[in-house]
Amino acid sequence: KKYILDLVVTQNIKLHANYVLIKLTHANPLPEMLPGQFAEIRIDGSNTTFLRRPISINYVDKTTNEVWFLVQLVGDGTRKLATVKQGDIVNVVMPLGNGFTMPRNVTKVKPLLVGGGVGTAPMLMLGAELVKMGCTPAFLLGARSSKDLLQLENFEKLGEVYTTTEDGSMGEKGYVTQHSVLHTDRFDMIYTCGPKPMMVSVAKYAKAHGIECEVSLENRMACGVGACLCCVENTDEGHLCVCKEGPVFNIKKLLW
Ligand code: FES
Repeated sequence: KKYILDLVVTQNIKLHANYVLIKLTHANPLPEMLPGQFAEIRIDGSNTTFLRRPISINYVDKTTNEVWFLVQLVGDGTRKLATVKQGDIVNVVMPLGNGFTMPRNVTKVKPLLVGGGVGTAPMLMLGAELVKMGCTPAFLLGARSSKDLLQLENFEKLGEVYTTTEDGSMGEKGYVTQHSVLHTDRFDMIYTCGPKPMMVSVAKYAKAHGIECEVSLENRMACGVGACLCCVENTDEGHLCVCKEGPVFNIKKLLW
């Protein structure tokens, strides 16, 4: 079930020139949300952009009744959203889409959560949920440069964190799929979100090693509810709307 809610901004933290972390709350308990789901956030006072922007759920803090969104400033809409202040009201439709499939045998399974750029956002909530279930996740996070590796201190509280940067300023130099941990460790399940070329190579690695793998696609979305068809992905069942049938897909379904 999805809700249209007027949420109140509790914090807007500038993480980096291009990213803000917005925390929102409501007088009533927030709806149940699954890792991998997203929200459509209304951008007020903007005529040049679509009315809402899809943003993945970064984290849910039940103790403070807050939901976190990591917003990358990519255009007019997100730049406008990034200006909200404490006490402002933000209209949000959520939760949308499906979530990641939680492993069945949590205490035995060793999952690897791979995130690239702003695609690391849903991995925080997923990691936190896995830890709550008694699982021990590891994280492999990649970005262009060290400053683009966001929320590392949050990830480090949840499990082992491996990093790569394209310029070598942190972790191993290169792409996530080149990280040495993929040669030294064995994982039972891989979850990934990030730029498409990254997810395609993660999916190839998983396939080659017979590892279950789910990806969260970030196809361009407008309506977020399966009406405009701008987010379709080619699957074994034909063209599916990522916003409605996804954003999470098992790689077995995708024609990559
Ligand atoms: Fe409109 Fe998916 S965003 S159909």
